[in-house]
Amino acid sequence: MESPLAAAWTRIAALAARPDARDIAARFAADPERAARLTWALDDLSLDLSRSSIAAPELAALLALAEAADLGGFRRRLFAGEAVNATEGRSVLHMALRVPEPPHLHAHARASAWDQACADAVAERARMRRFVAEVHAGQLRGATGQPFDTVLNIGIGGSDLGPRFLCDALTQVHGPRLAPHFLANVDGHAFAGLARTLDPARTLILVASKTFTTEETMTNAAAARAWLAAALGEAAVGAHFAALSTNAAAVGDFGIAPERMFGFRDWVGGRYSVWSPIGMAVALAAGWERFAAFLAGGHAMDQHFRTAPFAENLPVLLALAGIWHRNALGAASLCILGYDERLRLLPAYLQQLEMESNGKSVALDGTAATHPTCPIVFGAAGTDAQHSFMQLVHQGSELVPVDFLLAAEPDHDRHDAHDILAANALAQAEALAFGRDRATVEAQMLAAGADAATVAAVAPHRVFAGNRPSTMVLFRRLDAFTLGRLIALYEHKVAVQGCIWGINSFDQWGVELGKVLARDIRPLLAGRETAARAPTAASVARLRALRMTT
Ligand code: F6P
Repeated sequence: MESPLAAAWTRIAALAARPDARDIAARFAADPERAARLTWALDDLSLDLSRSSIAAPELAALLALAEAADLGGFRRRLFAGEAVNATEGRSVLHMALRVPEPPHLHAHARASAWDQACADAVAERARMRRFVAEVHAGQLRGATGQPFDTVLNIGIGGSDLGPRFLCDALTQVHGPRLAPHFLANVDGHAFAGLARTLDPARTLILVASKTFTTEETMTNAAAARAWLAAALGEAAVGAHFAALSTNAAAVGDFGIAPERMFGFRDWVGGRYSVWSPIGMAVALAAGWERFAAFLAGGHAMDQHFRTAPFAENLPVLLALAGIWHRNALGAASLCILGYDERLRLLPAYLQQLEMESNGKSVALDGTAATHPTCPIVFGAAGTDAQHSFMQLVHQGSELVPVDFLLAAEPDHDRHDAHDILAANALAQAEALAFGRDRATVEAQMLAAGADAATVAAVAPHRVFAGNRPSTMVLFRRLDAFTLGRLIALYEHKVAVQGCIWGINSFDQWGVELGKVLARDIRPLLAGRETAARAPTAASVARLRALRMTT
């Protein structure tokens, strides 16, 4: 007999097989009120799924799928601190990093995993806050006595993308307290530009690495250390470096004092770490108040995710829409369009969050996953994207669901420009959903004076098929609180999808093989003989030959 989960998938497949499975216009014809019916909100933050082919039967089937996958049990185990990251034997409690400072919370022997995590997080946050205040007040200065006006974050992946995105988003309007710079790529060109422009005497350097073993980060940290020592002397190093890590021993070996290390626990995954001391650059650049508001926004979304029924739960509904598009309609990608310059780095952030979390094809029990998992995530800021890849999204041969994100109010006073921006976001969503048929195109061309031959030749190219789904995420303003809500919304969405696909969203074994092979290949590049597969050996030989001739 079919299991409840298999039966729920079968129901989805049956709905997907209907001839009108993709028909958005038909859904609106059947229910003109669906824009209201398919919009859910948490305060001012709303999620509108009406521009999709999800209607009551699809929603019911998707919610049944979530029940059959025991999403409720998963959510309870997650917040209880059970080892939901089974392949690494770890709990997943980054939500504890964003609890407001609890008045009576203290660690004690019988504290639950959650209470213990909160106590830990709050204590370390207090240390972080003091450090930020001292830097801003000029009490902590560089070795020459000058105050810091620049922060250089050296880290990669989760130790880079979060701080980089948030510093960019939160300092565009007001300008930074300390100018933030980022060094991620081990490519020496990345540091060359920074070494040329930054003033070592005024630069505070954060080595951000959960493990403190990541090759790129440790190579760059060593380069920055040498750069600083060459300019200010070896004795200056201690005053200019701080570490954000879980690995106290390696931080000590690097020469950073314990009072300059800000820690977190192994229950914080790299791609969930911006809420931890890894967010130090955000607090330094954008100010503590904004960092705190960001955490509060994340916490508000946690409370909602933890308590709201699935049928009204924003992360769950966003996840279910993604399941419909990926598994019922076969969409292999997801396009993220923040209509806001401050969201220009959101797609890169979400690429790691979604693809490192759910880019898996093995289920928790070690068997092959039964359904396609994470789509390819890409995107850009609107309206820029309209002038690059949106052609394919409108008329290409792939179905590309889009998430639009848009604030009602800008944080500048050019409301005309904001209306142009907003009109474009809404127009893109309308064009995707409803398209433009051949008869309309021909009528418009004839009305504009085109001759019959031109109309016949060009009209087919100007048809928009429509029925291309999108999700509309609207909010009042893009402040730090809302950024926190948005990131937590996507974090929980990813966890919900991982639960439904039956995979572990919290490990990342797929990054391992390349790292190991790179270690083996490096001696070959230096001319030392080691075994290598034929194409690698051939490429190395070619590179070495080119080096000798150039
Ligand atoms: O290689 C992948 C990864 O482990 C990411 O998950 C992580 O965010 C990144 O590397 C950086 O790791 P770390 O913070 O330990 O340097």
